[in-house]
Amino acid sequence: MAKKIMILNGSPRENGNTKELIKSFTKGAQIAGNEVICFDLQKMDIHACLGCCKGGKNPESPCVQKDDMLQIYPVYQKADVVVLASPMYYWGISGQLKCAFDRLFAVAELDPNYANPKKDCILLMAAEGNTESNFAPVRAFYEGLTSHLGWKNLGIVYAGGNMEIGDILNKPEQLKQAEELAKSIS
Ligand SMILES: Cc1cc2nc3c(=O)[nH]c(=O)nc-3n(C[C@H](O)[C@H](O)[C@H](O)COP(=O)(O)O)c2cc1C
Repeated sequence: MAKKIMILNGSPRENGNTKELIKSFTKGAQIAGNEVICFDLQKMDIHACLGCCKGGKNPESPCVQKDDMLQIYPVYQKADVVVLASPMYYWGISGQLKCAFDRLFAVAELDPNYANPKKDCILLMAAEGNTESNFAPVRAFYEGLTSHLGWKNLGIVYAGGNMEIGDILNKPEQLKQAEELAKSIS
């Protein structure tokens, strides 16, 4: 059966390196017969979590804030795979992605024990630095996140050496890696 894949695109650059990774990933996912929905977070009205812990009352609208997260919640609830796609910003994910991800807590609040829905997860990241030490803080964050949520890490594409828009187009091996990872989802 086709898998449902939700991509959260945290890059503010419409045609940036992260978007190229997403395009290649989407191509691979479609070849594998899976369904992809991508949210370009920069274009959406998504506010930061208020930490009120008063959500989780209505499955269709689990957060007290009524903004564009309302488009993401139903897709997230049905998704088999969540793809975190982001430029590296100060050795972490972008603010756009962090805001949206924090807001997914409202879905966990639907459960009396704050159990997060179980998902498979992938990280696609573009960055200027191209060393393992540059990537280490994000790797620790991502592996900690998936492990604590009980999510299965299906893979990471760390696309280093990309600063300007379009730099990644000169690195077909990175784009291929994203495509092949998507093709492997079954
Ligand atoms: C605010 C800001 C912070 C950044 N921090 C890092 C960083 O910590 N490490 C790094 O390797 N690149 C860093 N970069 C470079 C971006 O990760 C790189 O340009 C990436 O290709 C951008 O992806 P995009 O084209 O999808 O926007 C930073 C860029 C910006 C604008």
